[in-house]
Amino acid sequence: MTPAAGTTPVRITVNGAVHDVEGAALDAPLLYVLRNDLELNGPKYGCGLGECGACTVLVDGVAARSCVVPLGHVLERDITTLEGLCRGDRPGPVQQAFIDEQAAQCGYCLNGMVMTVEALLRRDPCPSDETLRRELHYNLCRCGTHLEILCAARLAARHRR
Ligand code: FES
Ligand code: FES
Repeated sequence: MTPAAGTTPVRITVNGAVHDVEGAALDAPLLYVLRNDLELNGPKYGCGLGECGACTVLVDGVAARSCVVPLGHVLERDITTLEGLCRGDRPGPVQQAFIDEQAAQCGYCLNGMVMTVEALLRRDPCPSDETLRRELHYNLCRCGTHLEILCAARLAARHRR
């Protein structure tokens, strides 16, 4: 008998660990699965429309907005969330740079800022200021913390060299 939709566990790899998600539909937003099923609360729900960046994760090392990525698109791919950047119980280098520059205000947009900088530095360890600004342009922050965020991104880049 063919199983009903959503009754076969869906296997995904997140932060290096394999998970079989029960009862998930392949068209469910990845963000919902990460937060509700795997209890990974680093990625945040902001707009739900792919516009604010709060839900950003890495898919095969590339920044992706998990609120508009269907679960079925990330099978057999490596997903990294904010939690996956930590080194044991310590923040990863990009996270530490945000702490050092006091770039964390609300903590809501921060996930997207950190993940976007992480993705950029993986492909360009020495980004220009123009590149940093361009990459972060579509990550929305309403608290006016942009200058600290830019300083944190620069610091993370210096540490990467
Ligand atoms: S919640 Fe995904 S881009 Fe805004
Ligand atoms: S620090 Fe999150 S909206 Fe500004």
